[in-house]
Amino acid sequence: MATPHIDAQPGDFASTVLMPGDPLRAKALAERFLEDAQQVTSVRNMLGFTGTFHGKPVSVMGSGMGIPSISIYAEELFTRFSVSNIVRIGSCGAIASDLEMRDLVVGMGACTDSGVNRARFGGYDFAAMADPELLLPMVATAEEAHQSVRVGNLFSMDLFYHPDPDIMAMARRMGVLAVEMEAAGLYGCAAACGKRALAVCAVSDILSSGVGLSSDDRERGFHHLMELALQASLKFPE
Ligand code: HPA
Repeated sequence: MATPHIDAQPGDFASTVLMPGDPLRAKALAERFLEDAQQVTSVRNMLGFTGTFHGKPVSVMGSGMGIPSISIYAEELFTRFSVSNIVRIGSCGAIASDLEMRDLVVGMGACTDSGVNRARFGGYDFAAMADPELLLPMVATAEEAHQSVRVGNLFSMDLFYHPDPDIMAMARRMGVLAVEMEAAGLYGCAAACGKRALAVCAVSDILSSGVGLSSDDRERGFHHLMELALQASLKFPE
């Protein structure tokens, strides 16, 4: 049955959903990488598709930007569409000084300035972390492809334009690798729903230098990330 934000039918989604932020990217990735991709939802243009990869069903759907947006879609996918695994495939800004453009960061944990996980966890600090049953196959798949990945902490910030100029230096001192805007919310949602989640992000800008990727380069980075996530999804539990 349809939910407030997803007008699909039960069984329309595969057990694994890959989520880029941009719904048009979800469409482009589904058309390029999945066989027999069918659009399954379009509420608010947050497009979702299901097809197969190497014969295994898999879905791709946009998450929108920020923790509130991804939290809505993830919760409905987990609780109403029997989805077991959500992998955010996104971009991030490098905080660690040795990260370079297009490097991949696997979010083993996700710090946040958002209040969502405290709301879920009685006011305490919940350690938002990736599910090892998704993280380990993802890292193994990247290694098999001779793609180096960094595994560590993301910082999921509510504000893209943060007013505190020192916040990135503080995060760097604490060993945080990169900033993005969704992982901590996705991990908290997966924990609350008893499901699995992972965020893998390609570096699209270097915060210390202000350098960013062109949109063509971003696109190429996304194709590579999508291929790795699809390969890894073959090893995910149902
Ligand atoms: N901040 C937040 N999210 C991001 C950034 C950033 O600088 N770059 C890519 N996603």
